[in-house]
Amino acid sequence: MSTIVAPSLLSANFLNLERDIEMLNRSEADWIHLDIMDGVFVPNISFGFAITNLLKKVTKKTLDTHLMIVQPEKFLNEVKEMGSTYMNVHYEATIHLHRTVQEIRSHGMKPAVTLNPHTPVAVLEDIISDVDMVLLMSVNPGFGGQKFINNTLKKVSQLKELILKTNSTALIEVDGGVNLDTGKMLVEAGADVLVAGSFVFSSDNPEETIKKLKAL
Ligand code: DX5
Ligand code: ZN
Repeated sequence: MSTIVAPSLLSANFLNLERDIEMLNRSEADWIHLDIMDGVFVPNISFGFAITNLLKKVTKKTLDTHLMIVQPEKFLNEVKEMGSTYMNVHYEATIHLHRTVQEIRSHGMKPAVTLNPHTPVAVLEDIISDVDMVLLMSVNPGFGGQKFINNTLKKVSQLKELILKTNSTALIEVDGGVNLDTGKMLVEAGADVLVAGSFVFSSDNPEETIKKLKAL
């Protein structure tokens, strides 16, 4: 399976969003990664459903929604309505994770659990069989353009081991500081999905950059 590439809209030009989405539509990007922040779970606020609801009209790419908000289970209907395939909730943000995961599935979406850099992979042991993806944060969530935390490579290997041991089909997604160097190491360690924001949108030729990430 070739690497799944999910450019993060957080680094797009919000004054020219349609132009940037058209670029993603033309590109080899598989998914579009949507970062929703509440200013409580993370020290920043991004965009909300007024924006994300427009996307299904202008793209057929799979939408991958990363909720950096407290109590993400409050927004199951909204995330479903915007046409998202994946709903990523943080392990650190929902108390009854098992229930939330079941509810995501009963809303017709694919559940994914996200871990902050300090949260060990071992906490996934009793949820790994219930999720379609694990998103490992390789920066502290809240901002694009941060430096990749190298410890993530070890976590990818540990997660791969857990997935194999439990016969889980969960994908491994990594988010934060991804470029061609970190991306290559991540794929070698077992990552299936690479999220990239600033590396894609600040490059001279974003379409070509996406193509290069896909080839990793
Ligand atoms: C960070 C977000 C990321 C962000 C990644 O909180 O979850 O998706 O957009 O940005 P880069 O790729 O610039 O690190
Ligand atoms: Zn993200």
